[in-house]
Amino acid sequence: MPHTTALEPLETDQWFVDSPELSEFVTTAKEIIASTSGDSYGTLHERTETLNILEPYFAALLQKRDWLPEDFAQPNPESGLGGGIGQWLLYRSQELTIFSLVIPPNSITPIHDHLSWGLVGLYQGKQEETVYRRLDNGELEGFAQLEIVGLYQVKRGDIYRLLPPDGDIHSVKATTVFAPSISIHVMGNDTGSILRNQYNPEQQSIQSFRSGYSNAR
Ligand SMILES: [Fe+2]
Repeated sequence: MPHTTALEPLETDQWFVDSPELSEFVTTAKEIIASTSGDSYGTLHERTETLNILEPYFAALLQKRDWLPEDFAQPNPESGLGGGIGQWLLYRSQELTIFSLVIPPNSITPIHDHLSWGLVGLYQGKQEETVYRRLDNGELEGFAQLEIVGLYQVKRGDIYRLLPPDGDIHSVKATTVFAPSISIHVMGNDTGSILRNQYNPEQQSIQSFRSGYSNAR
């Protein structure tokens, strides 16, 4: 089964950008999470409800421009995901983490999971997302069998959902030619800090990894 690590609960909110647009969205998102039990302990039904209510507010945030500072829109050669992919933490609290994922042209993420509900929205450029489903029951250490369940072209303003147990495993490729593609991730867990999983379907293997962030531990 996927591994997770228990992290010390965060005592206070951590802000990495100073943006009225983002802070307004965070206030709304925290109210929605509290009112829908959309934390990591919620049922699938409750987490779905959280995403249903949250999505229009996230769509409105994506329509606004110039709230993401340039420093958070850069690739990172030291990336924990490889391919020069920048993963920049914007905001973090116990129940909500928001980061930007900056994928250079033609770079692709490993096939990975997130182990949490999430909304991913395109802020700049285009991406191709391949979604996988796990076929085995996870009982055999190091073994995982995947099948592709969807291939999606995503453009600026589009939003897709992450919702375990299905709909949580994917890889993402930037399909822009010159500039990186940038997606904003709104997650119910501290995705960059936890141990989660990478998959290799040809070898039918699964491996735990920690992506980290480009600007925070
Ligand atoms: Fe992802």
